[in-house]
Amino acid sequence: MSLGGCVSAKCDALVLLISEQFKPGKDEVSQFIDMAIKAGDLELKAGKSLQLYRHSLFEATKVILVGAGSANARQVRQAVLSAVGIVRAGTAKKMVISHALLDGAAANSLGALVKAVVAAAAEASYVYTSTKSKADPRKLRAVTLGVPDVSAVQADFAHAKALVAGVELAKEWANRPANHATPTMLAEAAQAIAKRSGFSCDVLGPKQVAALRMGAFMAVARGSAEPLRFIVLKYLGGATADEPVVLVGKGITFDTGGISLKPGAEMDEMKFDMCGAASVLGVFASLAQTKPKINVIGLIAACENMPDGTALKPGDVVTSMSGQTIEVLNTDAEGRLILCDALTFAERFKPKAVVDVATLTGACVVALGGVRSGLFASDDKLAAALEAAGESAQDPCWRLPLDEDYAEGLKSNFADVANVGGRAGGAVTAAKFLQRFASKFPWAHLDIAGTAWKSGAAKGATGRPVGLLLDYLVSQSSMQTPTPKQPRASKPVGARANLAPSA
Ligand code: BES
Ligand code: MN
Ligand code: ZN
Repeated sequence: MSLGGCVSAKCDALVLLISEQFKPGKDEVSQFIDMAIKAGDLELKAGKSLQLYRHSLFEATKVILVGAGSANARQVRQAVLSAVGIVRAGTAKKMVISHALLDGAAANSLGALVKAVVAAAAEASYVYTSTKSKADPRKLRAVTLGVPDVSAVQADFAHAKALVAGVELAKEWANRPANHATPTMLAEAAQAIAKRSGFSCDVLGPKQVAALRMGAFMAVARGSAEPLRFIVLKYLGGATADEPVVLVGKGITFDTGGISLKPGAEMDEMKFDMCGAASVLGVFASLAQTKPKINVIGLIAACENMPDGTALKPGDVVTSMSGQTIEVLNTDAEGRLILCDALTFAERFKPKAVVDVATLTGACVVALGGVRSGLFASDDKLAAALEAAGESAQDPCWRLPLDEDYAEGLKSNFADVANVGGRAGGAVTAAKFLQRFASKFPWAHLDIAGTAWKSGAAKGATGRPVGLLLDYLVSQSSMQTPTPKQPRASKPVGARANLAPSA
C-alpha cells in the first residue's frame, strides 16, 4: 500500500512506521512528518510516537506516527508493540499499519518484517478473558498491513498468522488458573485441536501410565486428587519413512513443591508450570495451519504437584520407566521426574530429534532472566538449528554447558541417581539429570522458566517458545516455506490479518 493509499485508508487507526532513514518526498504527508521531526516532536527511535486525531490530511480517525529506528525486525517489533499498545486502550476495531515510510529496510528482509509486525500487533492487542465475569475482549478485529509487494510476502504472512494462532492458544492455556486447567482439561484441549485439524491424539490415564511403568511420573502425581494425563499428539505431514521430531512438554498444572513445600509468596505463579505443555499445544495449533512437510510427535506429561497423606516424600526412591532408580531428595524438583519418563517413552518413535520444553528451574531465571530461554543440547547441529530459529523468530535462547562434572552432585547412596544436585549451577544439573534419559537420540532441552511468563503488573504468559519451535520445525521440513515467484501485483493490496478470537 502506497503512502497515498494509507492517507485515504478508512480505518479507526492508521500506524505509519517511520525509519531513521526517512527522506521526505514532496507529498503533504511526508512534509508534515518532516516538520514534526525538525521541531523535535517526533523522534524516530524505535517505539517513540506522535498521535494525531481527526487530522485533515488523513481519512483515519486516529493516526500514530511511530519511530522504527533502523527498521530491523527487532525495532519494527518494538514500534508496532508501542503503536498497538496506544490503540489497545481505545476503541479501534480496524487498523492499518503502513510500511511505506520504512526506508532502510532491505528488500530481502521484508518477510522478516511482516512476521515481526503481525506477531507484535497480536501480542500488543491480546487480552485474557476466560475467567472474568464481565469480559472486556480485544476490540481490534482486523489489521491490514500495507506492503510494496504482496505476493513476495504471502508465505511469510501465512506463517505469521499460524504463529499467532499457536502463541495465543499457548497463552490461553498457560494463563488459565489451575482449577480451570487441570490435566484432564489440558488433555481435552489437545483432543479438540487434533479433532479440528485431523491429526491423532491419544490420552493415557493413571492405569495406562502404570502399565508403562512410568514410576517417576506417577510418583509426582500421587499427592493430588486430580488424575494425571499423558498426551500423545501426532502431526504427520512428512513421508511415512521420515523420522519424527518429538516435542516434550512439562505439564505441571500447579506446582506447590509437594512435601518440599514452596513458600507462599508468588506461589500463584506456579499455575504457569505447564507453559512447556502449553507451548507444545500451541505448536500443534500452528502446524494445523502451516502444514509443513515434517512429522512431529507432541508428548505432554500433565499432573499436579501437591502434598497430601499419600504424597511422595523426600528420600523416597522411585523406579523410572527406563529402569533407573531415582532418590527424590526434593519433591519440588518434580519437572525432571515427569520429563524423564516422557523422554524414555519418546524412544519408541525413533526420533531424529527430541526437544523438551519446561519451566524447569529458578536457577535458569537467575542466569538468563526473561530475555533468553536456556538451551542445552547433546547434539551441536540440533543446538545450532534451535539457536537460529530463536533468532529468526525473535524468541531467542542461549546455550548452556553439559560438562560431565556438573553431574557430580546427582550421585546418590541409595539409588542410581538423585533428583537434585546442590544449589550451584541448578539449571545445568537439572539438564544433566534429563540427559541420562535421552541417550538414544539427538536431544535438546529448553528451560523456559524465565521466558514463558511475566510477573508483576503485566503478569501473564508470553506464548514462548512457540515461535522458536515453529521456525525450527519449518526449517527442518523437507519443503522450506515456499515463496511463490509471481509477477508483482499491479495494484498493491494490503494483506489482512483477522484478529477475531477463535473458539
Ligand atoms: N517449577 C519450578 C521452577 C521454577 C521456579 C520456575 C521459579 C519459575 C520460577 C520447579 O519445579 C522447581 O521448583 N525447581 C526447583 C528445583 C530445586 C528444588 C532443585 C527450583 O528451581 O527451585
Ligand atoms: Mn517444583
Ligand atoms: Zn515445577
